[in-house]
Amino acid sequence: MSTPKIAVQGLCKSFDGERVLDGVDLSIPDGGSLVLLGESGSGKTLTLKCIMGLVKPDSGAIRIDGQDTVNLSGRDRDQLLGRCGMLFQQSALFDSLPVWRNVAFRELERKELSPEAAHAMAVKCLSSVGLGPRVADLLPSELSGGMQKRVGIARAIASQPEIILLDEPTAGLDPIMSNVIAGLIVTNVRELGATALSITSDINTAIKIADQIVLLHEGKVAWTGPPDEIANTGNDVVERFIHKWKIEQAAA
Ligand SMILES: Nc1ncnc2c1ncn2[C@@H]1O[C@H](COP(=O)(O)OP(=O)(O)OP(=O)(O)O)[C@@H](O)[C@H]1O
Ligand SMILES: [Mg+2]
Repeated sequence: MSTPKIAVQGLCKSFDGERVLDGVDLSIPDGGSLVLLGESGSGKTLTLKCIMGLVKPDSGAIRIDGQDTVNLSGRDRDQLLGRCGMLFQQSALFDSLPVWRNVAFRELERKELSPEAAHAMAVKCLSSVGLGPRVADLLPSELSGGMQKRVGIARAIASQPEIILLDEPTAGLDPIMSNVIAGLIVTNVRELGATALSITSDINTAIKIADQIVLLHEGKVAWTGPPDEIANTGNDVVERFIHKWKIEQAAA
């Protein structure tokens, strides 16, 4: 078997004596798309933060291309992050910067592109998420929630990363827009040939994006499998999760 792009083994993390991650294992092959599904508070974002090195796990291994990343620091950590594109849970756009400067933020900060070239690059990335050139010069506050998510995705793909990490790319969007955004993610990730790790609490989004789903429950992997098997797992935790999700969908 070839080395996974991302491999997490026995990841544990506690805060104030309370175990939030309790031995999480997951593995994503190069070019794969894994979705972490789970209720609020199940440890999804924390798993992602550990992988990005923003939080240090208490124990467990995280390997990217077979190399341990838990103990990276300084330049090595920066280099690893430079290979990743990220969409944070709250889109996290800089309110005071126009959209194009948000999309090309990294390239501008590192002076890899002139402002003109960065603007052109941003316009191109925006078009691949279905936004016209006019949007480039607006401020994030002038955009709808769905447009902000698109800008967040444009920024995540701007540097043509090998790894894309997306935290709740469709949260707060209506089902139609969620479906559109999920489709954009699939197309763009495929086009880049990137490896994707996405987080969601929405089953429809997970099914659309994933080739493998991991359901986290109370900091443990309760189930993992391909999207077409999630409806018939015979697993109590999965069935309860689906049941609750359906009730929430009906109430929304
Ligand atoms: N830095 C921290 N300090 C203390 N507790 C934390 C910290 N980070 C996360 N936690 C706790 O870990 C648990 C899991 O948090 P996490 O953000 O991973 O949840 P999540 O699955 O992403 O939930 P949501 O769907 O609501 O975003 C929560 O109970 C949270 O309070
Ligand atoms: Mg979260």
